[in-house]
Amino acid sequence: MSDMPSVLFVCLGNICRSPMAEGALRVATRDAGLDVEIDSAGTGGWHLGNPPDSRAIATAREKGVDISGLRARQVTEKDFTRFTHIFALDAQNLVDLQRLAPADGTAEVALLLDIVPGREGDAVADPYYGDADGFEITWSDVSSAADAIVRLLGK
Ligand code: 4NP
Repeated sequence: MSDMPSVLFVCLGNICRSPMAEGALRVATRDAGLDVEIDSAGTGGWHLGNPPDSRAIATAREKGVDISGLRARQVTEKDFTRFTHIFALDAQNLVDLQRLAPADGTAEVALLLDIVPGREGDAVADPYYGDADGFEITWSDVSSAADAIVRLLGK
C-alpha cells in the first residue's frame, strides 16, 4: 500500500449514489490539487459492469462532471487493504461492509455523512426508486461529503 490516500465509496447497487460520490470527489480533489485514488463499489451484484443510472449521469453532467465511463463492481475483501478509507453511503451499507471486512483489513470504514458537520448519523438516501429530485439531493449530499474529505485529507 502506498502513502497516497485512497477512498472507496460503497452503496447498494453502485449505479446511483457511490458513482456520484466518486464524481464529486474527483472534481473536489482536482480543484484542491490533492492526489487521491478514488473508486466506488456496491454491496450488491445486480448491476455488475453497468454504467451509472441515466439520471445519475444526467445530474452529474448538469454539475459539470462526467461519470458516464464508470462501471459497477461489487466490493471485495481486498478492498479493505487496498483503500485507506471506505465510506458507506447509508447505515445498511455500513453493516454489510463490517460483516465483509477481513481480520487483516486496514481501511478506515465509516458512514459517509458522519464526516459532515451537522449530518452525523444521516444516510445518503437511495434515489433509485424516486424521481429526479432525489438525485439532486444525492448530489448535494455527496458534494458536501467530498468537501469534508478534501478538508480531512488535506491536513
Ligand atoms: P445505489 O441505488 O445503491 O445508490 O446504486 C440502487 C440501485 C439499484 C438498486 C438499489 C439501489 N437495485 O435494487 O437494483
